[in-house]
Amino acid sequence: MKIFITGGAGFIGSNFVEYILGMHPSYKITVFDKMTYASNPDTIREFRKNKNFSFIKGDILDAAHVNRAVKGYDWVVNFAAETHVDRSILGPEAFIETNIKGTFNLLEASRKSGVKKFLQISTDEVYGSVAKGKSRETDTLDPTSPYSASKTSADLIALSYFKTFSLPVLITRSSNNFGPRQHPEKFIPLFITNTIEGKQLPIYGDGKNVRNWIYVGDNCSGLDTVLHKGIPGEIYNIGGDTEEPNIKVAKCILESFCAPDRLLKRVKDRLAHDRRYALDSSKLKKLGWKPENNFEQGMALTIKWYANNTNWWLELKGSAFKKYCKKNYGARP
Ligand code: NAD
Ligand code: TYD
Repeated sequence: MKIFITGGAGFIGSNFVEYILGMHPSYKITVFDKMTYASNPDTIREFRKNKNFSFIKGDILDAAHVNRAVKGYDWVVNFAAETHVDRSILGPEAFIETNIKGTFNLLEASRKSGVKKFLQISTDEVYGSVAKGKSRETDTLDPTSPYSASKTSADLIALSYFKTFSLPVLITRSSNNFGPRQHPEKFIPLFITNTIEGKQLPIYGDGKNVRNWIYVGDNCSGLDTVLHKGIPGEIYNIGGDTEEPNIKVAKCILESFCAPDRLLKRVKDRLAHDRRYALDSSKLKKLGWKPENNFEQGMALTIKWYANNTNWWLELKGSAFKKYCKKNYGARP
């Protein structure tokens, strides 16, 4: 089995590569990644030690390169995306380009080269804010931010390639992931690393926004299940069993380090901040999947990883990252 993985140098993509190399030692994996600020070259360097791993530096917006690169692979998994909601509010263009046009380029290349499965990594944010109950795969899509709207477009375009061209497309919509190697711009790693650095934790609005957290390893096993047992043309939610308001997650992080609550700082709310996400994952559970880590276990693993890998995130919070942000978004991180 030969798998072409875009965005495999980022957070979930790199955890997925590690998972597949461990679970399926005969599979050959190629990561195709532009290496934006969100990627990590050390991760790729580590993977290169495995003989079944190869790497191509490339941009999914470069259609000619994508067309050449995809040839000969059985499966394509598309993680590559601009992923931070706050950045999509500051500068939506990169999100529209990468997330929509980039996905289109990959779908076209996959159609031409006849790949046997195309897994589009989508998100629970396509459902928009959910006041009551849990989102099911058949629910109406109602995205809020330029990030979630661009992901919704990509999700629907991918499905159109199944309906129109019979490309065997599968879609996963996962809830908020946390775990090792997540960029410290995102909520949980930002709060963990700020606590370690003794900095304040900027909590948006009243802190009562709820997210349905899933440990990244459980998302990876869900993706593996969908790739091996999922039906082309189908959508699968991958949600954790925990729903928590942000303030509770923040306090749990502070408690883990015996740090004082005064580090919490209420800041101006995000524009159009979705109040709650919640996923019904029963469709995937029927294929035999279930999350193995509850929130406390996942948090313990995550905190331990950030505490033991300070060099990794200090570099990402450092000057190269700030320069990249200024150039691409005209804003500080
Ligand atoms: P990330 O930001 O950590 O990584 C994104 C990766 O994509 C990086 O390695 C980056 O270099 C690469 N990339 C960006 N633009 C590219 C381009 N034009 N060409 C090639 N590579 C490019 O993201 P993540 O959190 O790992 O998310 C991965 C996927 O999962 C995304 O599609 C995201 O929408 C989706 N998702 C994420 C979450 C979450 O909680 N993190 C939840 C649901 C869905
Ligand atoms: P984030 O990690 O950006 O994921 P998403 O917005 O895609 O769900 O944020 C998770 C939650 O944490 C979200 O409700 C926004 C909130 N948040 C803060 O309160 N402060 C912060 O500094 C960040 C980055 C997020």
